Amino acid sequence: MKKGFCEIFEVGPRDGLQNEAREIPVSEKVALVDLLSRAGFSRIEVASFVSPRWVPQMAGSGEVLGGITRAEGIRYAALTPNLRGYEDAVAARADEIAVFASASEGFSRKNINASIDEAFERFAPILEEARHVDIPVRGYVSCVIECPYDGKVAPAEVARVADRLFSMGCYEVSLGDTIGAGTPDSIARMLLAVRDVVPVGRLAGHYHDTKGRAMANIDASLSMGVRVFDAAVGGLGGCPFAPGAAGNVATEAVNAHLTALGYETGLDQALIEEAAAMARQMRAV
Ligand code: HMG
Ligand code: MG
Repeated sequence: MKKGFCEIFEVGPRDGLQNEAREIPVSEKVALVDLLSRAGFSRIEVASFVSPRWVPQMAGSGEVLGGITRAEGIRYAALTPNLRGYEDAVAARADEIAVFASASEGFSRKNINASIDEAFERFAPILEEARHVDIPVRGYVSCVIECPYDGKVAPAEVARVADRLFSMGCYEVSLGDTIGAGTPDSIARMLLAVRDVVPVGRLAGHYHDTKGRAMANIDASLSMGVRVFDAAVGGLGGCPFAPGAAGNVATEAVNAHLTALGYETGLDQALIEEAAAMARQMRAV
């Protein structure tokens, strides 16, 4: 039975590769993005303009954006923690950018060396600048279930940060279960709170598969009305500042699952599997 459209937002070249121990050459990242560009995605996160001291793997982000063959209809996205990152992303012709906040203070400090409030002070000028030039800004909330430093996170805290991101102009809010601690029940409780403040059509699920529950959490989110899911080919990835965060949910598995459930994704499963093999190879070399 056909159930309508469900989008997978590919984050492999960014979230998938940012935590790899091996220094991956720009040419390999470009090859991965170019292959992904043929698979039918509308949005691919390819870069991150953060401190190279903090995340060495993302140091070549400008070169990646400069080296890819841009396909029509695809927005190539980049993470930016501050105005400097935003300016570098715009100079490298990122089509959209993302600011990233945390629902917990502990992770906020470890990840970006700022409290939640300080992070929003950094985001405000980014949103202001982006509005002038019509660059869409996505907002992430990390630790929507549990924080590796502060423990369990209340749904009301997630809703508070999601509301702030949406109110300041983020067109979509991606909810990160950064360490894969969620269960279908806790994800549903979190979404109930967030749906009250951000329309469900503006939410995305970003579930790491650390404990093997990401797919069940996607199912719970589908039943709550969420229709956008972040995933990384090959199931690579994780955040260097979230111990145990390894493994985004794998794009190829999510696409197969959504298709089997009757959702249209517009993606070519064979090409995604090819990209997954390439991504795994990049890790293995
Ligand atoms: P700081 O040390 O507080 O900032 O870092 P600072 O202003 O004092 O700058 C420190 C150094 O960074 C200076 O250079 C600056 O020039 C430089 P140094 O003097 O050491 O040579 N710097 C920059 N360099 C390049 N681009 C920039 C930039 N800004 C400053 N934009 C900062 C603050 C935010 C920079 C730092 O904490 C940082 O880069 N953090 C990166 C965190 C990160 O990338 N985490 C992974 C992504 S988030 C994630 O994965 C979660 C997500 O997937 C969702 C989920 O799963 O939950 C999105
Ligand atoms: Mg992530």
